[in-house]
This record gives sequence, structure tokens and C-alpha cells, in this order.
Amino acid sequence: MPRKIVVTSALPYANGPIHIGHLVEYLQTDIWVRFQKMCGNQCFYFCADDTHGTAIMISARNQGIKPEELIERMHKEHKTDFENFFIEFDNYYSTHSPENQNFSEQIFNALNKAGSIAKRNIEQTYCENCKMFLPDRYIRGSCPKCKAQDQYGDSCEVCGTTYQPTDLINPRCSTCDSKPVRKTSEHYFFKLSDFELLLRRLIENGYTQKSVANKLDEWFSTGLKDWDISRDGPYFGFKIPGEENKYFYVWLDAPIGYMASAKNYCDKNGLDFNKVWNSPEYELYHFIGKDIMYFHALFWPAMILGSGFKTANKLFIHGFLTVNGEKMSKSRGTFIRASTYHKHLNPEYLRYYYASKLAGGIEDIDLNFEDFINRTNSDLVGKFANLASRSGPMLTKQFNSQLGQLDQQARDLINQLIAAKNEIIQSYETLNFAAAVRTITALADLANRYVEQNQPWAMVKTDLEKTLTTLTATINAVRIITIYLKPILPKFAEKIEKFLNVGKLSFADVDKLLENHKINTFERLIDRVEKEKVDAMVEESKESQALQPAPVTLGEPIAQECTIEDFAKIDLRIAKVIKAEAVAGADKLLYLKLDLGGIEKNVFAGIAQAYKPQDLTGKIVICLANLKPRKMKFGLSEGMILAAGAGGKDIFMLTADVGVVPGQRIK
Ligand code: 2FM
Ligand code: ZN
Repeated sequence: MPRKIVVTSALPYANGPIHIGHLVEYLQTDIWVRFQKMCGNQCFYFCADDTHGTAIMISARNQGIKPEELIERMHKEHKTDFENFFIEFDNYYSTHSPENQNFSEQIFNALNKAGSIAKRNIEQTYCENCKMFLPDRYIRGSCPKCKAQDQYGDSCEVCGTTYQPTDLINPRCSTCDSKPVRKTSEHYFFKLSDFELLLRRLIENGYTQKSVANKLDEWFSTGLKDWDISRDGPYFGFKIPGEENKYFYVWLDAPIGYMASAKNYCDKNGLDFNKVWNSPEYELYHFIGKDIMYFHALFWPAMILGSGFKTANKLFIHGFLTVNGEKMSKSRGTFIRASTYHKHLNPEYLRYYYASKLAGGIEDIDLNFEDFINRTNSDLVGKFANLASRSGPMLTKQFNSQLGQLDQQARDLINQLIAAKNEIIQSYETLNFAAAVRTITALADLANRYVEQNQPWAMVKTDLEKTLTTLTATINAVRIITIYLKPILPKFAEKIEKFLNVGKLSFADVDKLLENHKINTFERLIDRVEKEKVDAMVEESKESQALQPAPVTLGEPIAQECTIEDFAKIDLRIAKVIKAEAVAGADKLLYLKLDLGGIEKNVFAGIAQAYKPQDLTGKIVICLANLKPRKMKFGLSEGMILAAGAGGKDIFMLTADVGVVPGQRIK
């Protein structure tokens, strides 16, 4: 009986691009889902954008757009990134959806009715200027322990101490730089400890990998604390039923987004959601990273248990990605976006490389570029593609693309390949893709050795029949190895299917021999990785050099001459700053809205370390008005303000005297 399976990956935030760290999880899940489908199982893969919360609200505000507009744009970008890496969701939805709102309210109401929700007042940090409560990440100040300046409200990036925002020395609102106050407000809490026994039982019954059991024990022994599930407005999210200015915390509705995506899919495809999501007929698995284990091992199953839904059969938890042995870094250029990777390199290299590293545990995996290049070239090109390119062209040329039959030696080889099927299936099933890759490469070595022993390129001169047998055996080896690799390399497999003139291959086809069969003309399968392309990708990923303070070099040669006509092209205008704001996620940038006498321009200027936003509003500055608009990570920059200095805190904006009129051209 085919199994029925529902699978989810963690929902990526809609305020940032997909990067190669995210891809570890989506590729791991996609490989597993493709494997299940290839075994003849029914398997649905659901995901969505995680669209709510303060970060998205502020990010949209900084870009001068509505959050709805931002999340729509990100949704398109994310979908393209996933498609580029052949990550095939059955539904990729959004947490900002009616289905999600309904389920969130339904679950909240059920928990409330069961007495699992409490209300009480809490005191929090509030910015009177921005008129909002400030999450820890939006408060900056000096670390109470090591005194390092400009640290977040929850922990110090210099000495690692964690603390309360009230402990910070000289705390500031990171948006407007004013001094926040403490303010009381009523919040809703989910009583997690009510579910302790049920959660313990769930975990004892194998809800997570064994390797995380210690961490979970630690959480149980320190005691499960009530969870604050509400946020005061302004907030981008769903309003709590019966409240005017209170919203569900993003982490409440995020996992419910798994259900919303499933519901949306079921409705569109005439399926019964209750059966697919909530009946034992379907297995349910969540793939997640170890950073969000608390949410998925405690909060999420407790919410589900308290509101009449089924918990997942298991969490599959993976580790983080390091690059060349270190944390991904923007300055080293190893914080690589999926779109940047895709511009330079074939996605199947990364699919294969990650697969060769993923063994189903929570250990971090490392992307080492040298190893990446060597492995891709030696395995994908040297072992797999090579096998096909050693047999295909000769079959076309000498035998009119017509296969012959196997002899005993050929059968022995093919039988060895077939015999590995169950072991490979077992490795995929248990997420030990690294083991599957090891077995498959060993089989490819075996097949390549067979070709070398028989030397069809030499034999063709003396024994045509034996040559055809050798080539036929090689093609059969290619076919079997392709089936084994297909969950990892779907496009590579598609090309081979076309070359072999066969339908979509699955695990059931492993022992079906291809004899006396006409194949198609061989086409190139995959190129070698060139180091230059990897270098170019890293170079492009380095945080924009333009934002770094330029090193002071005395005696630097004068740049190429420009003519007076060149200079006349520059349109410098008097401009008034009508809005100035910090840019979330960019320490050096300020967002400025400028008035150029009725024309408004949005400009991102690298002056955040030298100027406070509130000091700039109303200032008269000089703007290069006809600079070609530039798409930056944070939005479109439509001009440039003139400033000079060594960089960092030493940047001085050129300001104009009073009496000048915004819009006036400087000649
Ligand atoms: O950590 C994150 O990136 C979250 N957006 C994951 C949410 S997973 C699920 F709960 F929605
Ligand atoms: Zn503020």
C-alpha cells in the first residue's frame, strides 16, 4: 500500500531573500519528498512565506511601501529562488491569508475556552516618539557588562552576555534614537506548562531525533514558562478576536501557516482537508533547523494538542551551514543569496554537495569551496556524466543508437547495481543522503571500471558484438544510477531520461533492463565547475564596498579627465530633508525623503554613523538629482546627497544656507 505523507519546511520570513543557508533545509526536504514520490507514495510538500511581525512592518515603512506590497514582492522573489533550485512545493502560500486567520482564531478560541490562555499586565520598553513598544532588537545601547556601545536590547555581540533591555546603559530606540520609557500593557499568555505531561509523552514516543532529547530534558527541568502570544499595535499581523489594538504574535500564526497552506491546496484540488491534515491516514513531518526547535517541539504541539488537531509524527531537525568552516559572513562574501548563486553556478552542484553532507543529524554542515569544486568535478562530471558520455556518442555513431543485449559479465555488473536498491532506499528514508551518495558513487566506480576493462573504444575495431554488449551494459548502469540519483539531481535525470528515450524513471524501474531498445542522440549533461565562477559569486556577495569608509590614500593618482560638458551633465539641486529614518538591518545607511521643490526623491545615504535621523529633518542639503536610480537591497535609491570626509563618524554633509529654495539648481 502506498503511504500518504504530508511534509512541511519552515516558513521563511518575508523580509529577506533566500540564501544558501536556507537552502540546506529546502533542499533536504525536497530530496526527501522527491524520493517518496519516486517510491510511489503520495506525498504533499507544503510551505509558505512567514509574513507578520515588527521587522516586516518597519522594513516596509523604511521603503515607503505597505507591508502587503512588501510581502507580495518577497513572495514572488522567494518562489523564483525555489524554482531555480528545483524545489518543488505542492503549495507555496502565505501566512497573510484568510485560511491562516481562520485557523489562528479557531485555535486561539479553543485554547481560551479550555482555560489555557491567561491575561496579565506586563511592563515593556516603549518609544513615545514612534508610539510603539520596542522589541529587543529595536533597542540599542551599551552592554551593561563589557560596556561595548551600540548593542541590541537582548544580548551583546561583543561579550555574549544576555540581559533585559532595561539593563542597557543609555538605551535608545533604534528607529528614532530617542530614549525609550517603560510602559504597562495587558498581554495574552499561553499556559504551556498545562501541557507538560502530554509533551513529555510525545517526545518519549519519538517526536524528535534522539540526539536532541538532552536539550528537551533541559527545558523540561528548568520548567515550562507561559508564552506571551500578543503584541500591541502598531503591528503587522492578525487582530486578536475582541481586541482593538492587540495582535497575535507572529510566532503564533507562523506554524498555523502550515495548515493554511494545506487547506488552500486541498480546497483548490477537491481534497478533504480534515483527512489530509488531521487523520491518521496521512503521516505528517516538519523539517526545521535546530534554532527553532523550542517553537516546534513545545509551543506548536501544545497549541495543537489543546485545540483538537493532530500533532506531527516527527520533527526532522537539521544543523546550520558554515562556509569554509566559518559562519556565513557578508564581508567575506559567504552570505550568498540563492539568486546570486544561481547567476553564477548550476543549482544541481549545490543539491549534490549538500546531499553528500547531510546525514540526518543536527550537526552543522560545511560548504568548503575547494571541496565543492573537487567533488562536483570528480563525481558529477567524472563519474556520472562520464559514464553516459563514454557510451552514448559511440552507440549513435556505430550502432545507429540501437542497444543490444547483455552477456553474463554485463549481467553480473547490473545485478550488483540492482542489489544496492534497498540499501539506498533505506538511506534516503532515514535522511542519510550522505550514505546514499557514498553507495551510488561506489556503484558508478564499479561501472566505470567495467568500461575501462572492456575498452569499447579499442574493441570497436575488432569485435562489434562485444562492443555493443559493453555499451548496452553501460547504458543500463547509467539508467540505474540515474534512478538512484534522481531525488538529488532531477534535471540531470530528466536529460538522461530523454537521452535513453524512456519515461519518468522511478524506483520501481530499477530492475527493468533496457535491451534491443533505441535511444536518442547524446547531449552534453553537465559542465565542470570553474573556480573563477565561484570566486565571482563570492565577490558579488561581498557587502557593497561603496558603503565602507574609503581608505585614506595620500598621493592617489587623479582620475581620468572629464570635460566641462561631462561636468555640466550633473544636476545638483537644493533639497530639503522631509523624512529621515534608520534602515533596519543596515548599520551604515539612513533612509531620506527629500523635497526638490515639489519633486520627492528617496535616497539611501551611508551616513548613519555620522548623523542621527532626528537631527536631519528640515535640513537643507545638496542632492545629485539626475543620478540613475539604483536598486539597493532596502529599496530604490533615486539620488545622492553630497558629503565629504574619511568615512564612519567622520562624514560631513554639505548643507546650504537658509534663504535658498528647495529645487533650485546649483550652477
Ligand atoms: O525562523 C524563521 O525563519 C521562521 N520564519 C520560521 C517559521 S516556521 C513556522 F513555524 F512557521
Ligand atoms: Zn522611536
